[in-house]
Amino acid sequence: MTTVRDLQAMAGDEQITMLTAYDAVTAGLVEAAGVDIILVGDSVGNAVLGHEDTLPVTVDEIASRVGAVARGTEDALVVADMPFLSFGVDGSKSVSNCGRMLKEEGANAVKLESGPHTVELTQRLTDLGIPVMAHLGLTPQSVNQTGYTQQATDREEATEILELARAHEDAGAFALVLEHVPANLAAQVTEALDIPTIGIGAGSDCDGQVLVFTDVVGLADSSPPFAEQFGDVRGEIETAVSDYVEAVESGEFPGQQHADTAENVDDLY
Ligand code: KIV
Repeated sequence: MTTVRDLQAMAGDEQITMLTAYDAVTAGLVEAAGVDIILVGDSVGNAVLGHEDTLPVTVDEIASRVGAVARGTEDALVVADMPFLSFGVDGSKSVSNCGRMLKEEGANAVKLESGPHTVELTQRLTDLGIPVMAHLGLTPQSVNQTGYTQQATDREEATEILELARAHEDAGAFALVLEHVPANLAAQVTEALDIPTIGIGAGSDCDGQVLVFTDVVGLADSSPPFAEQFGDVRGEIETAVSDYVEAVESGEFPGQQHADTAENVDDLY
């Protein structure tokens, strides 16, 4: 089993790979391909569940997906992405929502979209044995305040990110996701911290990279500008399903090899 310490030991030596997955089958494939961290992202909301953004995703939805991903993997570190308002509102509820992911579903850590309000919580969770991955820069749960544009492009905001990164490291966060921030800011945050940084739209100087599964395999109908498509799963599905429809409609499927007959059931009608 990969631990947060194993990942910390990788930082600076080898790039850490992280990818989202939302079900057991995909998680198994992602792990077999060598991904170190599987994030059960609240991106499930827009990537899979048909929502406009991540805000409607519930604790139950993430919990069910975390359980599936944990069952589908053996070694990868499974991180549960805590949904909007499941943390940071009420202290003990935050702890029980996060704890549930480890205690009942098999996650190894949680990710919190971070800000000044998550420093204390990060400390509390870490003290309780719940490893926390922090997340700064573009935090999609704040879409109504920031939109999806690049963050921290001015000195003041960039300095705040650096300070918050240090505060979360001091509070015990084991890693930090930096999303859609200038590459030169991400490079400086990476230099300033001992814990690994995992970038998404944050350049190549982070200790690792994360993307959303549906963007990487080419299943998403639209992707952010910083994502890269490494396959055409959408095209594969379109071809397979239309071939199936055509085969059924033409009578080509099922063939004799797809069904058996039983001697005693002739002449019933
Ligand atoms: O929900 C998610 O998939 C994420 C990653 C993009 C970091 O938070």
